[in-house]
Formats: sequence, C-alpha cells, structure tokens
Amino acid sequence: MKTTLDEQELEQIFQQRIDNEQKIEPKDWMPEAYRKNLLRQISQHAHSEVIGMQPERNFLTRAPSLRRKAVLLSKIQDEGGHGLYLYSAAETLGTPRSELIEALQSGAAKYASIFNYPTQTWGDVGAIGWLVDGAAIVNQVSLQRTSYGPYARGMIRICKEESFHQRQGYEIMIALAQGSEAQKQMAQDSLNRFYWPSLMMFGPHDSESAHSARSMKWKIKRETNDDLRQKFIDQTVPQIMFLGLEHPDKEIRWNEQRQHYDHGEIDWDEFNAVINGNGHCNRQRMEHHLRAHEEGTWVRDAMTAYKEKQRKREVQVA
Ligand code: 3HC
Repeated sequence: MKTTLDEQELEQIFQQRIDNEQKIEPKDWMPEAYRKNLLRQISQHAHSEVIGMQPERNFLTRAPSLRRKAVLLSKIQDEGGHGLYLYSAAETLGTPRSELIEALQSGAAKYASIFNYPTQTWGDVGAIGWLVDGAAIVNQVSLQRTSYGPYARGMIRICKEESFHQRQGYEIMIALAQGSEAQKQMAQDSLNRFYWPSLMMFGPHDSESAHSARSMKWKIKRETNDDLRQKFIDQTVPQIMFLGLEHPDKEIRWNEQRQHYDHGEIDWDEFNAVINGNGHCNRQRMEHHLRAHEEGTWVRDAMTAYKEKQRKREVQVA
C-alpha cells in the first residue's frame, strides 16, 4: 500500500488549496518553485524598502521646516521597518537574512529601479511620496491577498503606513503647486522626472514578464503588472489636474469604451539600462549600503553575543 503521496499528488493538493483561497504557511508543503519565486519577490521587495531610504535621506538636512523634517524622518524610519518585516517574511522560507543581503550586495538580487534616480530638489521628495509610494500602495493593496501567509500579513501592516507616505508627498506637491511660480516649476520638474520611472515599478508588460504567469497561478500576484499600472495611471490623472500641472504623458487620453486612460509607452531601454546597473545612482546606492552594513557589524556582533549570553543563562537556570 502506497503510504506517501508523490510530488505530482502533492502539487495537486497544493494548487487546490491555492484555488480555495487557503493561505500557505511556512510549515506547509509547497513546490520548490513556489518557494523560490516567493523568496525572490519578497527579498527584492525588502531590498527596495531599505535602498529606498537613501534618496529621501538626501533631504533630511535640507527640509524647508522642522515639521517637514520630522515627517520625512518618520517616513524614512517606516521604510526601514518595512524592510525588516519583509526580510522576516522572507526568512520563513528557510533562507537566512545574511544570504539575502549577500545577494543584494553582489548584484544577484534586484531592488526597484526607481531608487536609482537622484533626488535633486525638495519637489522630488514630494514626487517620491506621491508617485512612488502611491504606486507601491496600488501594488501592495493587491498583495495583501497574496497566497503566502507571512507576506500577506506583512502587507496589511505596511499598507497602513504607506497611505501616510503618499499623503505627505502629495501635501508637499500641493504646497509647491500653489506657491510661487518657481515652486510650481519645481513641482512640474519633479513630476516630469519621476512619473515614467514610477510606472516602471509595476514591471514589464505582462507579455514580457518572466514570472507573472506562474505568480498569478499560485496567487502570489493577484493582479497583473499591466492591470495594476493602468489602475495607477487612471488615479494619477485627476491628481495632476488638481495640482494644475502638465501631464508628462502627451498621449494620455480618456477612452470611454475602455473606461480607462490610453497612454504613451514606457521607455523600456531606460528600464533595462537602470535594472542592469546603468542608472544615475546604482553605484552610489550600493556603495552606501555596503558602507552602512560594514559600519553596523558591531551591532550585529553585540546582538549575537547578547543572545548567546541569554542562552547560557537559560541553560544554567534549567
Ligand atoms: N525595478 C527593478 N526590477 C524590476 C522592476 C523594477 N521596477 N520591475 C521588474 N523587475 C524585475 C523583476 O524582479 C524580474 O527580475 P528577477 O527575475 O531578477 O527577479 C524581472 O524584472 C522581470 O519582471 P517580472 O514582472 O517578471 O517580475 P515579477 O513578477 O517579480 O514582477 C514586481 C515585478 C511587480 C516588482 C513584483 O516583483 C512585485 O510586485 N514585487 C513586490 C512589490 C515591490 O517589490 N515593490 C518595489 C518597490 S518597494 C517600494 O515601493 C517601497 C515604498 O515604500 C516606496
């Protein structure tokens, strides 16, 4: 009598669970390809959160008021926390954080290309909060329904904080757009430089996506790259109009039949150049990450020593 289920039967039971909207938990059986795909996406999401702290950090000492500085500081702190939640979710898949960080620092793992663009003005801080966190919210609200339990639960907590990030960014853009002519021009310049790279955050077209088909089948992704991008494009048009700014996409048109905005094409050569290391700030972002990681060695060593001391004390008491 056969006692163990073979791989094919296990996969069928697994897919049935996915189809029945059951969450997959760390100790559940899962296909190795599902685990690897999840580890790739969650760890790269975490890398993006941590590297994403760098562009805005550039304006911590340049914020125009104490209030703006305090708000920006708390947003950047949130992003670090998002990275930690996501690294913890990734570690439940059996890979230690040190290996994930090594993959980032060696270039084997990616992070969102948007963070390789420089922040040149205060308007950029507003555009990042408004557009980059706005795009992240569209993506992450969908990911709250992802099939892997720890990732879904992390998303629910992260989305609550992202909403504040998006609002503070848009508030900066409103202040600039309703300010002097020079301030309005600053807001327009930031919109022009961050709009298209924000659309790239949703990934390549579904037809070009290496992972989407399986990610949708396993409900890692609940909506496709292009559907999420369209949602973001549609919501951004009235926000640009409210600011009284010019839309960077000259082909943006409402399509009554589609009930969506038709839009121009992303510069995929730029997208590929940036994700292949040739963006404005790729080298700078990684140098900073390596330096910060090196400088933080003593903290990791101290925590390891403290945990070992605690363990020995518990053994003595037992
Ligand atoms: N930047 C860098 N790499 C990107 C990218 C981008 N904008 N878009 C896609 N890629 C990479 C993918 O990682 C993949 O490369 P890989 O095989 O080496 O991992 C390749 O391009 C093909 O793309 P696919 O669409 O096939 O890959 P995915 O199915 O993983 O879809 C994704 C890409 C939509 C980014 C998906 O991974 C995802 O939803 N990730 C979770 C959300 C996330 O990571 N957001 C990043 C921003 S974090 C953030 O915004 C922080 C906020 O606080 C500001």
